[in-house]
Amino acid sequence: MRLVIFGANGQTGRLLARQALDAGHTAVAVTRRPEDFPIADPALTVAGADVHDAAALIDIVAGADAVLSTLGVTFTREPVDTYSVGTANIVAAMRQTGVRRLVVVSSAAVDHYPGRTGTPFALRVVEPIITRTIGKTVYDDMRRMETIVRDSGLDWTIVRPSGLFDLPCVTDYVAGEVDPVGTFTSRADLADYLVRLADDAGHPGTVVISTTVNTPTMWQMIRREAFKSA
Ligand SMILES: NC(=O)c1ccc[n+]([C@@H]2O[C@H](COP(=O)([O-])OP(=O)(O)OC[C@H]3O[C@@H](n4cnc5c(N)ncnc54)[C@H](OP(=O)(O)O)[C@@H]3O)[C@@H](O)[C@H]2O)c1
Repeated sequence: MRLVIFGANGQTGRLLARQALDAGHTAVAVTRRPEDFPIADPALTVAGADVHDAAALIDIVAGADAVLSTLGVTFTREPVDTYSVGTANIVAAMRQTGVRRLVVVSSAAVDHYPGRTGTPFALRVVEPIITRTIGKTVYDDMRRMETIVRDSGLDWTIVRPSGLFDLPCVTDYVAGEVDPVGTFTSRADLADYLVRLADDAGHPGTVVISTTVNTPTMWQMIRREAFKSA
């Protein structure tokens, strides 16, 4: 398959590009910084574009079998529109070029999962605070993105991971239209699931993905988020 990957130069996106190539796919990695993209492969094209530039996306998306998005923005108190405007531009480019399959990464934090398994007390206290304060503009824009994707008329899947962290290998993760959802998702697992979803004839709608082994402690995650926020 020819997979177009937005956010390809991010932490999940680089894993996704590598895994897509290793699975035998052709990949187009889209980034605003093509000169920094670390992977070279005969089956890889690196395309420079900002997703706010609607016209630039048309040639990039044309001919794709699936479009995958791991676009991401750091927490900020400023307004955020990268998820919504960027995804609306991707959807428009797909419609214009007849590409049907779209898989986007959102977050489990945009919704309420009352049965969430093994959720530490610290997360139950801290997550609502983050989503209403330093993370508010990001999560509000993710919700706008989800609406755009659901209304797109495309063959879409929205993937909602939990707190992202890094493991060296793909694990036996839990994913799909399941609830309760876990607390953490490794980026390698997320990338693996995205590659699988690219070719999923069943086209599941809104799904979650949880990693259940070798997860970090809650305080490691909170410290990391606190230092990352602007
Ligand atoms: N961190 C968490 O715990 C967590 C939890 C749940 C969900 N998520 C979501 O999971 C996804 C992946 O996270 P991640 O940590 O792997 O992401 P990341 O490292 O922050 O990478 C996101 C990438 O998006 C690209 N991007 C941002 N604005 C862009 C624009 N205007 N045009 C084109 N590309 C743009 C950037 O690439 P360039 O700068 O190269 O253009 C960046 O490398 C994100 O959607 C994130 O919100 C994160």
